Amino acid sequence: MCGIIGYVGSRDCAPLILEGLKRLEYRGYDSAGIAVFDGTRLKITRSVGKLANLEKALREKPLSGTVGIGHTRWATHGKPSEQNAHPHEVNGIAVIHNGIIENYVDLKAELSAAGSVFKSETDTEVIAHLVDQEAGRGKGLFEAVCAALRRVRGAYAIVVVSEREPGKLVAAKNASPMIVGIGDDERFIASDVPAILPYTRQVMYMYEEEVAEVTARTVRVTDLHGAEKTREVRVVDATPAMAEKGGHRHFMHKEIFEQPRALMDTIRGRLSADRKTPLDGEMPGLSVPGAVKIIACGTSWHAALIGKFMIEELARVPVEVDLASEFRYRDPIVGKGELVVAISQSGETADTLAALREARSKGAHALAICNVVDSSIAREADTVLYTRAGPEIGVASTKAFVTQMAVLFLFAVRLGLVSGRLDPARAQALVREFTHIPSLMEEVLRLEQKVQDLAREFMHASDFLYLGRGINYPVALEGALKLKEISYIHAEGYPAGEMKHGPIALIDEEMPVLVVATRGRSYEKVLSNVQEAKARGGRIIALVTWGDARTREIADRVLEIPDVHDLLQPFLTSVSLQLLAYHIADLKGNDVDQPRNLAKSVTVE
Ligand code: F6R
Repeated sequence: MCGIIGYVGSRDCAPLILEGLKRLEYRGYDSAGIAVFDGTRLKITRSVGKLANLEKALREKPLSGTVGIGHTRWATHGKPSEQNAHPHEVNGIAVIHNGIIENYVDLKAELSAAGSVFKSETDTEVIAHLVDQEAGRGKGLFEAVCAALRRVRGAYAIVVVSEREPGKLVAAKNASPMIVGIGDDERFIASDVPAILPYTRQVMYMYEEEVAEVTARTVRVTDLHGAEKTREVRVVDATPAMAEKGGHRHFMHKEIFEQPRALMDTIRGRLSADRKTPLDGEMPGLSVPGAVKIIACGTSWHAALIGKFMIEELARVPVEVDLASEFRYRDPIVGKGELVVAISQSGETADTLAALREARSKGAHALAICNVVDSSIAREADTVLYTRAGPEIGVASTKAFVTQMAVLFLFAVRLGLVSGRLDPARAQALVREFTHIPSLMEEVLRLEQKVQDLAREFMHASDFLYLGRGINYPVALEGALKLKEISYIHAEGYPAGEMKHGPIALIDEEMPVLVVATRGRSYEKVLSNVQEAKARGGRIIALVTWGDARTREIADRVLEIPDVHDLLQPFLTSVSLQLLAYHIADLKGNDVDQPRNLAKSVTVE
């Protein structure tokens, strides 16, 4: 949500800030704005809608200066409008903000009573007024920001610039991501690494309730009370090319095709030489928990559901999977001796972070499975396993999902071996098969033309049903989520066996029913469900394993993928469903990488 970039140095910064905002577009937004200090005054330009509108406004009225801030806003308080777009400025102090100020109503009332006049409906504007009020009491910008934030409750990543102290930016963070990029006599502030990758790979991560005073040559970090903090500079393992489309029409397409490579990166160095014991190095003292609870949201939750099959089958440890947004509000029973696994691509999802904190406060050991290095969830967990998918820019998660499943698989094998419940020879055979998945995935990707034909045939459907049983049920859920979020077609994922208890009433000749019917434990049962759907006139698209003549006889359309062990099948089925959703959305002319209303990293609860 909300992209943030700040610059202080010697370059003309408006184009750089605009470029940075473009690199953050994937986070999701509905308006944007930029403030630049022109040597005398702060000049602000804001616009509703895509960055092209801001770009046009800047062409008509260019901003020039070497200190500035820029923001893409995903509306929470107040509709998308120019007035509600950031930066918000009060008496020469401009603020951009990602997050939600929970006590803004009280603060606004208090400030209004003291004479502040509000120009927007946002919670953010209270920060600008608070900083202005503190500055009016004689404080410098840095102290004024600290004092203002001590009065604020909620989540924030902010950057503040003032006409009165023009050579600096002040940034602060609480529960929303923020980094400082270190260049040669220039400094950057951003909500995410891709924004600054063309300029520097040297990055300082800010932690909770920290404030940074940033000039072209210096960075000083303190807590909200001014106590100095030392933060190391790290070199991020990403290149600008990783955040570019590399010849693909969309980031999502590129990321779907990157999956074999991403999987190899996930596995690399995590298998012992004899391929018997995964994760030796990262989890040397792993003890077997009494139970595992997995918490996540959205696509990561689907990976968790698949992980449950893997862990329960291989390690025989009971696994409960919870939506993070539900977990924390029902006083969950969790405590010592239990392992809580938080799965998150961004590592910043507010609900998952809060659920993780809740579980840790009750004594559970927390394992994070994250993609973004040093993200909040990764930092707060007791142990982290990174997915190593590389930057995921498309809003619809693809390579993060398959790499999450990969980490869960390795973890399940390891737990099985440590517990003694998984026979080492079986583990070795499974791991060996797993290492072939990247090349089998390449074969699935070669089916693209067939998938595109299917997409053309079914793109005008208004509803879709996705069915699966066992481990294929979460695959169906994920397939349906992919379709609805980028094509805006209503799609439901359902356990195939439950169909006759209600949803079968929906089926008619208009309804495409996509069935994940790979060979395996529940194959026969799924076939019966396909028959039931067919008997009601449903148009059946079956996702099957090579050479499946039986399903071919019943289904209207068939897509064949390689046959692998049940537990590994989701790596291949998911990829074909991603391709289907992608091509339907693309044929419809939708904005695949930035679907409406969605944000990449959901940092509000
Ligand atoms: C869907 C999607 C979302 C995320 C969810 C959790 O394609 O990307 O459903 O999976 O918002 O995000 P993370 O994994 O960053 O916690």
